[in-house]
Amino acid sequence: MKEVTPHQMEELWEEDLLKRYPENGKPEKAKEEFRNYEDPQRETVKEFYRINHLNQTYDFVLGKEKEFLKFDKKEMTLWEAVEFLNTLVDDSDPDTDLDQTQHLLQTSEAIRADGHPDWFVLTGFLHDLGKVLCLFGEPQWCVVGDTFPVGCQHSDKIVYPEFFKENPDSKDPRFNTKYGVYEPNCGLDNVHMSWGHDEYIYQIMKDYLPEEGLAMLRYHSFYAQHRENAYAHLMNKDDHQLFKWVDKFNPYDLYSKAAVPPNVKELRPYYEDLASKFLPDTLKF
Ligand SMILES: [Fe+2]
Ligand SMILES: [Fe+2]
Repeated sequence: MKEVTPHQMEELWEEDLLKRYPENGKPEKAKEEFRNYEDPQRETVKEFYRINHLNQTYDFVLGKEKEFLKFDKKEMTLWEAVEFLNTLVDDSDPDTDLDQTQHLLQTSEAIRADGHPDWFVLTGFLHDLGKVLCLFGEPQWCVVGDTFPVGCQHSDKIVYPEFFKENPDSKDPRFNTKYGVYEPNCGLDNVHMSWGHDEYIYQIMKDYLPEEGLAMLRYHSFYAQHRENAYAHLMNKDDHQLFKWVDKFNPYDLYSKAAVPPNVKELRPYYEDLASKFLPDTLKF
């Protein structure tokens, strides 16, 4: 794979999401058509998903959970974490690309401007903080990208489903049936999701935000459900309620584009205040 930095990979992933799920509309080209056309950026995204789908097995995810949910990597205040994440900025174009803090603020400020409750604003501000995984040396394919359940059959509604053929779980009878290791409508709380920044930040915030906010954190990249409804057979009633909030959140993540980039310095006190209402003084990563 052509070497791309974590930040470039994210930009490519986001551009790809916008092509798949454009604002107020249909994809510009029919799915097949635009998947077949040669484009070096698409090739990079495709290769990214090949590696992702190949490696995100049930055992891999359990291993990552064991490794990272000890939260023994780093202890930071919210703002230290925000600044730490911002060190991910590399050779992106400063004129057109937002840095990490600006993406968080753009999302949360759009939520605030629409008059949503403060926990929703805070959730918007926190939603990508799990990308600090990149700074702990984790490869891009297990930090960003669409997420999906592991331990059961992969839906063909997941982006590039053909790459799951190479995933050992798809040949393992424990994991390759509709329900796999799960029970019908067992609830997503009982389901392991592919490892990435969503699961990580959800687990960090688990004790501090209302469950609607936690659902936004955990499922914001789970496009196969919130856009394609491919996993309703694992969801319970509560999940369906919570996904109304996930749906509410997604456009702010994907489409909010402020005319003027948010002013980080001016906004900092508001967010530190908000954090002190919900979060402890330091967060364990
Ligand atoms: Fe994200
Ligand atoms: Fe985001």
